[in-house]
Amino acid sequence: MDTFRFAGPLIRLLEPERAHNLTLWCLKTGVVPSQKPVISPLLKTSLWGREFSNPLGLAAGFDKNAEVVQPMLDQGFGFVEVGSITPRAQPGNPRPRIFRLAEDQAVINRMGFNNGGAEAACERLQKLKSEGYKGLLGVNLGKNKDTAVAVDDYKKGAQLLAPYADYMVINVSSPNTPGLRALQGRAELQVLIGGVQETLRQNLGDKAPPLVLKIAPDLTEADKEDIASVALELKLDGLTVTNTTIDRPDSLQSVHRNEAGGLSGAPLFEASTKVLGDIYRLTEGKIPLIGVGGISSGVQAYAKIRAGASLVQLYSALVYGGPALIPLVLTELVQLLTRDGFSSVTEAVGADHR
Ligand SMILES: Cc1cc2nc3c(=O)[nH]c(=O)nc-3n(C[C@H](O)[C@H](O)[C@H](O)COP(=O)(O)O)c2cc1C
Repeated sequence: MDTFRFAGPLIRLLEPERAHNLTLWCLKTGVVPSQKPVISPLLKTSLWGREFSNPLGLAAGFDKNAEVVQPMLDQGFGFVEVGSITPRAQPGNPRPRIFRLAEDQAVINRMGFNNGGAEAACERLQKLKSEGYKGLLGVNLGKNKDTAVAVDDYKKGAQLLAPYADYMVINVSSPNTPGLRALQGRAELQVLIGGVQETLRQNLGDKAPPLVLKIAPDLTEADKEDIASVALELKLDGLTVTNTTIDRPDSLQSVHRNEAGGLSGAPLFEASTKVLGDIYRLTEGKIPLIGVGGISSGVQAYAKIRAGASLVQLYSALVYGGPALIPLVLTELVQLLTRDGFSSVTEAVGADHR
């Protein structure tokens, strides 16, 4: 039974951040039942030497403190990305800082990396690893608001958390930390990626997890070219495309449309998929991409895969569709792959470019 069909409208009566905290509590205490996974050989995919049971993951920001990794894997995701985690705990921006744009099937957030810090996350991930978990885990790193030299924070995060991650993400694309997105420039990226790669090599050698960079959708052609060329030059393992947008499309209906922060959900789909396709082309399909932004159906997951994504993620659609969305997306994806004669997700990656 889809409990969310009944619980969802009630949860949505609550202020969004309270609703989210209640959801986390329900997941932590085991009130939310697991869902039957969608198992298909078509969905299995191998990336970075890791086996994903399916290519659909939970995007960063839902589980900022790595508290509900196993419960979210039990909802049917192939992987869960925790964070963004900063070295020191910080409160984030004043509330209210999340807004539902229900008419637009969208969300605006200006959380500002509220999280319990890397050491608390480390303890949880240590415990999780020792207990064993079914699925794969991404760890997304951010910087503290008051840190002047950004690379130091990403190095600290990598040093502490890399031993527990199946992949690591450098997040330089949240619109809610002043100056963060300026780190997407060519010179800044070279220092940042080079620095974190060095830390990973020194600490873990060939056991270091793959390193991924998460980028914004609001980029010029020159920005995208710079990112692609640095990624190729430094042999980055992956790019996550994209974070939320600071753009406000004219189509938005909700009274919250002019709230400051990053917009996610349905209105982000087209713009983020366009950037995904551009980055795939500019990196010549040589760097694995994680496609995220506005996915709420198998059709959209498939569109991201065809545009170049090896893996996909979602977050905002869960606010409106609840966990039942996960098997729906995956079932529809299997149907689309079958219809088009693909025998695996991997075969369909970048199909639109061929
Ligand atoms: C409330 C909220 C908080 C988020 N926090 C983070 C974060 O801490 N780090 C990050 O990299 N992305 C964060 N994101 C962005 C998502 O990971 C994702 O890139 C974006 O929402 C687009 O996907 P969606 O349309 O499926 O939500 C957040 C998104 C939302 C809605």
